Amino acid sequence: MDESECRACRLHATRTQVVVGRGPRAAQVMIIGEAPGRDEDRTGLGFQGAAGRVFEDILAFLGLRRDEIWLANAVRCRPSIDGKRNRAPRPDEIATCRQWLERDLGEVQPKAVVTLGRVAFESVTGRPWDTHQRVEPVPISHAAQVFGLYHPAYLIYRRNLQSAYRDDMRRLRERLVALNIPLAPPTGPWTNADAPEGGR
Ligand code: URA
Repeated sequence: MDESECRACRLHATRTQVVVGRGPRAAQVMIIGEAPGRDEDRTGLGFQGAAGRVFEDILAFLGLRRDEIWLANAVRCRPSIDGKRNRAPRPDEIATCRQWLERDLGEVQPKAVVTLGRVAFESVTGRPWDTHQRVEPVPISHAAQVFGLYHPAYLIYRRNLQSAYRDDMRRLRERLVALNIPLAPPTGPWTNADAPEGGR
């Protein structure tokens, strides 16, 4: 079955399109979010809209470009209430969609997988998310190391997490460099220590 035609769970009935995993097959870094929201469902691309702007800042600080990473979500179709409001994905939807995550991991074989938020971490590793283990490497099959971060949407509502997030990303940069993953120098608003809670 093709990912873009998947009908394995109820979400196919209310989606506009599947937001498929995408990126270069040779990507060394895979980033996994939770699930598409309205903007992603409309455009077919991951991390658009408000969460997308925070995501861009994260990428800039890490020294990675969108076109060099593999980007996917744990759940590939938008979970919504009657196609209107976003809702959290349900455990059975996460479990059913895991086949596409497995497929991506097997085909791309990244050196590092960065998970954004609890749902992505638990789906990728099969372990419960412990917020104190952020950025601690978790090995999985396919030889990849998994590094968990907070979900960027958190930062939209909890601006006081900004400096913890910046520290996490500094440590993540060190981990990625230790895996011989080439990173550009950090850029973007988060490089400015004086930026008022992220510079936006
Ligand atoms: N949040 C996610 O987890 N993924 C997206 O693609 C957009 C918002």
